[in-house]
Amino acid sequence: MINIAILGYGTVGSGIFEVLNTNAKSISVKVGDDINVKYVLDLRDFPGDPVEKVLVHDFDTILNDPEVAIVAEAMGGVEPAYTFAKKALESGKSFCTSNKELVAKHGAQLLAMAKERNLNFLFEASVGGGIPVIRPFNESLTPEQIVEVSGILNGTTNYILTKMTCEGLDFDSVLKDAQDKGYAERNPEADVEGYDACRKIAILSSLAFGKQVDFEDIKTEGITKITDIDIMYAKSMGKVIKLIGNAKKDDNGSVSAMVAPFIIGSDSPLFFVNDVFNAIAVTGNTLDTVMFYGKGAGKLPTASAVVADIIDEAKHLNDNIKVVWDEEKLELKKADDMTSRFFVRLSGDDAKIKDNVKAAFGEVETVECSQVSGEYAFITGCISEKDFETAISSFPNYINRIRVK
Ligand code: NDP
Ligand code: HSE
Repeated sequence: MINIAILGYGTVGSGIFEVLNTNAKSISVKVGDDINVKYVLDLRDFPGDPVEKVLVHDFDTILNDPEVAIVAEAMGGVEPAYTFAKKALESGKSFCTSNKELVAKHGAQLLAMAKERNLNFLFEASVGGGIPVIRPFNESLTPEQIVEVSGILNGTTNYILTKMTCEGLDFDSVLKDAQDKGYAERNPEADVEGYDACRKIAILSSLAFGKQVDFEDIKTEGITKITDIDIMYAKSMGKVIKLIGNAKKDDNGSVSAMVAPFIIGSDSPLFFVNDVFNAIAVTGNTLDTVMFYGKGAGKLPTASAVVADIIDEAKHLNDNIKVVWDEEKLELKKADDMTSRFFVRLSGDDAKIKDNVKAAFGEVETVECSQVSGEYAFITGCISEKDFETAISSFPNYINRIRVK
């Protein structure tokens, strides 16, 4: 029997407990041994819940029990998760987590600690919820030199944008719905301002390029400035707006990364990714592009990914699974130099505005939307972030802009 402990009995933690109980027999066959949840740590009590029998409130109970071989964390936040992860590894226990804040900040160090001790630190559920994407990076994609990773990486914001686009619902009520369904972070600002997707693209690019990509270096915008009128314009072009995280290596070897809403057309496979689903397209130098798709958030899909890590760790007790993610920092290309086309909305629609636009941006593509009046909307050619900001600063009638793929 292999004893494990779960830290946190919220949405994901209770899901881990449920998946391990529901699929106990088949998991036992696959591991070749039973997995026993010896402890669940939480701050609260859960009267009447089966977890009561194994519930503890003090991490030291878990730490000081030499029978516990694996600790699965689903509390969220950097602390105390980081301290618990270090202590668990120092006392000979493998660790796995769904916590992207922890992984993005300390993943490289925790991987090194696990390697030194012949243990494992795994984090499949930290990106893409239930989608297997971290493990393929360390297995099926290892022959490749990765050149680009691009995807819809946040379930809450994709759910909000889908409901606003397809059902005309308002932002606040859909966010509340996403929270009720257990998709959103405890502080949903992390979802809607893009911070969660930023940590996920930082993790993926660290794995793709093998060095530490600091999430603080990634230009990040969320969806809070997207209005129903922006969505109407996108629809009038036969396109949709999606929050996309992207990391790309140029021919000269420099890596750029960004999280922002993009207008995309049906020529992109991400166009069809709706609701809480996420998708991550990975391009390798010999493989070309592959895409991973599935539920990006939610109790059981996420829990399934954590249980996959528990199973892997149970199958590799005292056997480190190699993951290449050095602590050395990867310097990203400056955000100012990244280029894009921009969809722009200005108030007013007289001829002078169009002349001014032409003078500032050169030839642009005018965008018509029958439901909107009193505005001039257009798409620029491909220009740098810096040049866009300089050009748009001379327009006091500027309303909004969204990058176009
Ligand atoms: P929840 O808030 O639902 O659950 C967290 C649980 O951990 C709560 O029961 C909380 O107790 C408990 N907890 C917090 N701090 C401590 C502590 N110091 N000691 C013991 N227990 C503690 O969060 P989720 O389950 O949604 O998310 C957990 C992690 O998984 C996060 O990192 C999140 O980003 C990640 N994740 C979540 C997904 C989802 O769909 N929800 C998907 C993928 C990843 P209390 O409520 O009393 O504070
Ligand atoms: N809040 C996150 C999301 C959970 O909505 O994608 C999954 O990481």
